[in-house]
Parts: sequence; C-alpha cells; structure tokens
Amino acid sequence: MHSVAAHALDEIAGATGLDGLEAVRALYLGRGDGLLTIFRKQLGAVVDPQARRQLGQTVNELCERTAKALEERRAALEAAVRTRQLEIEALDLTRPAPRLCRGSLHPVTKILREVRRIFAQLGYSAASGPEIEYDRYNFTLVNMPPGHPSRETQATFFIDEWRVLRTQTSPVQIRSMIQHGAPQRIIAPGKTFRRDYDATHFPMFHQIEGLCIDEGVSLGDLKGTLEYFARSLFGPDRGIRFRPHHFEFTEPSLEVDISCMVCGGDGCKTCKHSGWLEVLGAGMVHPIVLRNGGIDPEIYSGFAFGVGAERLAQLLYVIEDGRLVYENDVRYLRQG
Ligand code: DAH
Repeated sequence: MHSVAAHALDEIAGATGLDGLEAVRALYLGRGDGLLTIFRKQLGAVVDPQARRQLGQTVNELCERTAKALEERRAALEAAVRTRQLEIEALDLTRPAPRLCRGSLHPVTKILREVRRIFAQLGYSAASGPEIEYDRYNFTLVNMPPGHPSRETQATFFIDEWRVLRTQTSPVQIRSMIQHGAPQRIIAPGKTFRRDYDATHFPMFHQIEGLCIDEGVSLGDLKGTLEYFARSLFGPDRGIRFRPHHFEFTEPSLEVDISCMVCGGDGCKTCKHSGWLEVLGAGMVHPIVLRNGGIDPEIYSGFAFGVGAERLAQLLYVIEDGRLVYENDVRYLRQG
C-alpha cells in the first residue's frame, strides 16, 4: 500500500502536462478501480475492527496525501501554461510601431480645392456642368459656331453628332447664366478632355473656370481679382501682367502671366529666363456669349477666366516633368 502511494507521488511529480496528470489521477484515485481506491473498498473484508480502523486511517491518509499532491501539481502546471501563454502574447510597448502608409490627396485635387476656397472668399459660388456636353454648349453658345476654324484647335472626342467630351469648362458659363441670370459669380473646376497625348498633354486634364457678371464690371476688376488669386495661391509677392490674345468667347481677350515664384522675376529655368509664367486665359465676356446665356449686354458686363489645374500644380509644387502628375509615382503623390 505504501509503495503504491509512493509510486503515485513519483508519477505525479513527473507529470509534465495536465492530460498526463489526469491519467495518473485516474490510475490511483479513479472512482471504481483506482489502485488506492481499491484498498479502501477492500477494508470491509478486514474482520478485526481495531485493525480495520487503523488500516482505514492509513488508506485515508495516503489517499489524501495523493489527492493533495495532485492538486498542487495541477496548480503548478496550470500556472506554467498561463506563464507560457503570456510570454507568447507579450506586447513590447517600447518597440517602434510599424510605419503606416497614410493616403494623401492628389496634388491636382488640392489645387482644385484651394482655388475654390480662394474664390469662395471673394463671394464666388462653386458651379459644375456635365463632362459629356452638348456640342452646342461646348462650342456654339460660347461663340464657336459649326465650321469655325477655332474648333479645330480643340482636338475633340465626339460621342455622337450632338455630344462631345467637353474640351473646356467654358460651357459651364452658359449653363450658369441660363440658370442664375445676372448678377452672378461662379468658380467651376472640372475634368476636360482632348485628343492629345504627349510629354506635356494628357487626354484628360482639369480646368477651373471663373465668371463674374454684374453692372459695370471692368477689366480693372479682372486684374484685381486675378492679382488677389495669384498672391493667395503663390505668395504675397506675385505680380500679374496681361498680354493680348484671342478667344472667341471674350473681347478683349488676354493671356495672363504671373511673376515667377521660383526666381521672383529675375529669370530662371522655370520661367525660361523671362521672369514670367503663363497661367491663365481671360477676358471680358463677349456680348454674344452674354446674350446666348440670356443676359442683356446693354445692362451687364462681365469677365471670365480659365486656368489649367495641372499647370498650377506643376508650378506650385515645382514639378519639372508634367507627366509625373498622372504616373502615380508615390514619391510624387506624397509631396502633397
Ligand atoms: N476655355 C479656354 C481654353 O480651354 C480657356 C479660357 C480662356 C477660359 C479665356 C475663359 C477665358 O473663360 O475667358 O483654352
């Protein structure tokens, strides 16, 4: 009996897992046929009551000692399991965190938003028009009638006989005039499309159209507005200058240069040593266009301008190769 108990204690001490320990328990203390349990069951067969009591006491002691050893071993094994688990799941808060790649807005998106914000401060409302536009709105109503040679300069994607992918945001002028009449001030950023694809041209690009109509609007208003715009976007020292140009929908028409923000006007590679950068087309809205929009040119006058967003992004972020704008090189996109 004592040697059975001694074996039990040895095996309990040697058990390395909870399953093994349970097997040892069943072997020695199992309800029906545990090796120690059997001694207890056989007590009834001892005839002498004195001897039976003594024997019973011994069996009980051995069973209790074994049960206690089992319990202690179980607690120790469970603690070891828990410790190992904690080791596996340990979090080292002093380790550097993995670098997260956060997305950012595309430089062109930022330009569109920034220009809209600048003009919002001057009281301009945001306007938009469809990218699939009627030929009539894209051309005819902005004074580029069918057969007019100027249409040829805007390599057009035709959808069908009546519709095109808009080649410019200028049709938004007409839509806005028809919808809101005069006076009004709008800024209309959006996608435009032309059949061009080379180092400096993409088939899809963005323009921002501006339109201001009221009584007595003058060229001076246009100049002041664009000067404010150039300074807001490119810094307080920017100047602008007008050069005569020709657009069908404005009269007079101008191209607008801003003083080079790279060299401050002294001349550098970016401005091809002229000190000036061409950025906008602009002019006083042609009376025919006002009339096409349902506005009386005898009462109202207005100015309009159109600017390429990619060009502004290129200038603002000083990007030498314009193709980078749409090549999705993350090094370029992260600059924003
Ligand atoms: N629509 C012209 C273009 O795509 C840009 C432009 C020039 C817009 C003069 C205007 C403007 O509103 O007044 O080349």
